[in-house]
Amino acid sequence: MSLKNIYFVANWKMHGSINSSHLVKKIRNFSNKNAKLGKSKIILCVPYLFISLFKNILKNSSIKLGAQNVSNVPEDYGAYTGSISPRMLKDAGIKYIILGHSELREKGENNNSIKKKIGNSVKSNLNIILCVGESYSTYKTKKSIKFIKSQLQVLTKKTIKNTIIAYEPIWSIGTGKIPSEQYLNKTFDYLTQYCKKKYSLKPKILYGGSVNENNINVLKNIYNCSGFLIGGASLKYKSFTNLIKNYYK
Ligand code: PGA
Repeated sequence: MSLKNIYFVANWKMHGSINSSHLVKKIRNFSNKNAKLGKSKIILCVPYLFISLFKNILKNSSIKLGAQNVSNVPEDYGAYTGSISPRMLKDAGIKYIILGHSELREKGENNNSIKKKIGNSVKSNLNIILCVGESYSTYKTKKSIKFIKSQLQVLTKKTIKNTIIAYEPIWSIGTGKIPSEQYLNKTFDYLTQYCKKKYSLKPKILYGGSVNENNINVLKNIYNCSGFLIGGASLKYKSFTNLIKNYYK
């Protein structure tokens, strides 16, 4: 069994309720009991509403909490109805933040706003999980690398240090389809070389898109992969913990 330090990041999206505290307790117990998985980094990116409730549940655990978006204004506090700043998230116990998810890009999020959010979040000492990934037509027309490169322009020499890149092909999110191992290795290699060349560092890169307890056996072979961003399969105890267990089998 490999004891590689590997990220299992749950992206709950718009799911969960106060009752989900049962699920979080079970995941916490699973993580506490499985010392051999102790090197895994489990991060639960949950809706804002549940942060303080779950923080309390996770206080004696290595599981960290993350959020899924943040305001793009530079101030920590101000007259911005409905907004949450990185500083507020930090105060509430958030360590990670998912930015640039394709579901938000579809609703108008762009490189400009993502870059601002990254800069503000890094100032508040949050770790960024930056989602990049191409659509099916971009994939089909073999323009993926060019497209991903354009999405990486939101990073700077300073912010890359706090950033984990999550490669999520849009055509794989929620569809049950995953790219071939060969394609994934090629893409991860590109991302690694890009960061080495531009920033002289080896980036942490996650794969996201339909990760589940069955395909993890294939996905764990991706070269240079530091872990996974998991949507649907993170919402149920069995599917999430089986996925983690299977990774180490
Ligand atoms: P999925 O979602 O695992 O349900 O495909 C992944 C994501 O959107 O981050």
